[in-house]
Amino acid sequence: MNQATQFAQPSNADWISRSLRSVWHPCTQMQHHESVPLVPVSHGRGAWLYGADGGRYLDAISSWWVNLFGHANQRINAALKEQLDMLEHAMLAGFTHEPVITLSEKLSALAGGRLGHCFYASDGASATEIALKMSFHYWRNSGQADKQEFVCLRGSYHGETVGALGVTDVALFRDAYGPLLQRAHVVASPDARGARDGQSAADVADAAADELDALLRERAGRIAAVIVEPLVQCAAGMAMHDPQYLRRLRALCDRHGVHLIADEIAVGCGRTGSFFACEQAGIWPDFVCLSKGISGGYLPLSLVMTRDDIYQAFYDADVRRGFLHSHSYTGNPLACRAALATLQIFEEDKVLERNRVKAAAMREALQPIAEDPRVAHFRQQGMIWAFDAVIDDPQQAASFSRRFFTEGLRQELLLRPIGRTVYLMPPYILDEEEIHLLASRTRSVFDAVMGGR
Ligand SMILES: Cc1ncc(COP(=O)(O)O)c(C=O)c1O
Repeated sequence: MNQATQFAQPSNADWISRSLRSVWHPCTQMQHHESVPLVPVSHGRGAWLYGADGGRYLDAISSWWVNLFGHANQRINAALKEQLDMLEHAMLAGFTHEPVITLSEKLSALAGGRLGHCFYASDGASATEIALKMSFHYWRNSGQADKQEFVCLRGSYHGETVGALGVTDVALFRDAYGPLLQRAHVVASPDARGARDGQSAADVADAAADELDALLRERAGRIAAVIVEPLVQCAAGMAMHDPQYLRRLRALCDRHGVHLIADEIAVGCGRTGSFFACEQAGIWPDFVCLSKGISGGYLPLSLVMTRDDIYQAFYDADVRRGFLHSHSYTGNPLACRAALATLQIFEEDKVLERNRVKAAAMREALQPIAEDPRVAHFRQQGMIWAFDAVIDDPQQAASFSRRFFTEGLRQELLLRPIGRTVYLMPPYILDEEEIHLLASRTRSVFDAVMGGR
């Protein structure tokens, strides 16, 4: 069937003006849309989003890092259609259902049985809140109610709700709400870009861990948990670190009696090369948060898994010792079914192995960019690639991201640099042609934005 007949094509201008009148768009200064138009999307197929005006865009950032196996994936669609006719939703307090049970069992198996008792919510920020509250409440239940403080890394991002912003170190998102927040201790990031001459990424990791050690020596009696984005601090501009940091972090948390929360909302589900990013350091956290890719990018789903002894500290006749947190859509069966279909694709298609081959092909295709003298810190972790544009003029630097985004759309790419950092975080289903198209168009967008060669 031809796309024009399958999908009614509304007028682009009509959608834009109606959206601007009726919708408050996220993470946006709405006035910017006076100069940068909204992009109405009519449908998606594979790695592509199709505009209502007939244009198309390769979704090279997986629609905010959520989409793993393409838009309108036939296998996830089929699983959801079947689930729709069985059960769309039932409350999870006092009730349970097959999708939530099977998903929890499978996730626990993926964590080697070390983490389990999945606690569900919808968005990533809610998972952050849950992990923070669980850690605090565990210590309270264990007679250590003084442990009320948290530690996060410089440049960390854990979501936009008030608790999550307290452990977020991105001034633009956080500062306006400063008076509302319980601020965390902020310690050095192990960002490998901080390496000085002769220093390795592992040296940077060790120096950052030493700073954390000093804080924990002084204040561990008041600190409940350290929260970290393992291997890649994505919102900080794809700041990557050596797994050595995670090993040191695990050892320090054990030594000082502090929980380790791994926020794998962006880096989990195979994005860094292993299903859980922490696996690459050979460690397990006390809490892991998952969201985004877990539902294949279909439905809002997040969850927190923890150790059995932490779960047991809540298990009691006294209701107040229980974890009474809830959300209306906790464990929604449709979202869990999408997650089960996603995990099935991982298994059946040997996705982690295949991604290694795709990642190598993409790395090769991006080599001309890596060698470009206008590029600094070309880096890769699994299915994430990033580089920083070298720009001297502060005005050019300030407008780089917006100019890159606009030129990207003109060249059929959806890319949203963070400041001067251009990153690619595509769905895992790119074929060879799409890999080459993405690499060559990224280069040509970069050339256009940097003023040609
Ligand atoms: C590491 C990390 N944690 C938490 C969040 C918040 O997730 P959500 O936007 O679904 O609330 C994000 C979102 O980008 C994230 O990257």
